[in-house]
Amino acid sequence: MAADSLYDRLGQREGIRAVVDDFYDRLVADEQLGAFFEGADMEQLRRTQTDFLCEAAGGPETYDAAPVRQAHLEVPFTPEHIQRAVELLSESLDHYDVPAEDAELVVQAVAEYEEELLARPDEK
Ligand code: HEM
Repeated sequence: MAADSLYDRLGQREGIRAVVDDFYDRLVADEQLGAFFEGADMEQLRRTQTDFLCEAAGGPETYDAAPVRQAHLEVPFTPEHIQRAVELLSESLDHYDVPAEDAELVVQAVAEYEEELLARPDEK
């Protein structure tokens, strides 16, 4: 059997978009994180996050929005916020029955940007 890519196993763009939609539903409804998204263009965020994860999973898409560090410079995250977001992403992957090993790869793709997400303007 030909080894398929993570991108294929996740159901390509459609499958990844479903996970991202579920993830952002959880983010905006979350007690700790919801307020950060007030006034945000959620459709654009869902699209760019889908591009990001498609590219990270080996798909043909390319993430072309602002670099992660720059996009979050004005968002005053603490490490606990990032931890909570990663937890919600895991819940979304679980909701779509993504196997644990693949779910871990997706979570890692986001978690490895923790430093960039936490960067503040005075650290530019
Ligand atoms: C590494 C994966 C991520 C990518 C590629 C990404 C991408 C982006 C992009 C492109 C923007 C829009 C910047 C703009 O147009 O001004 C943004 C904003 C934002 N992101 Fe992320 N993000 C990621 C992870 C996260 C995580 C884990 C959180 C945790 C809650 C988060 C929360 C936010 C918030 C609150 C905004 C600001 C919304 C606003 O006020 O407009 N992001 N992100």
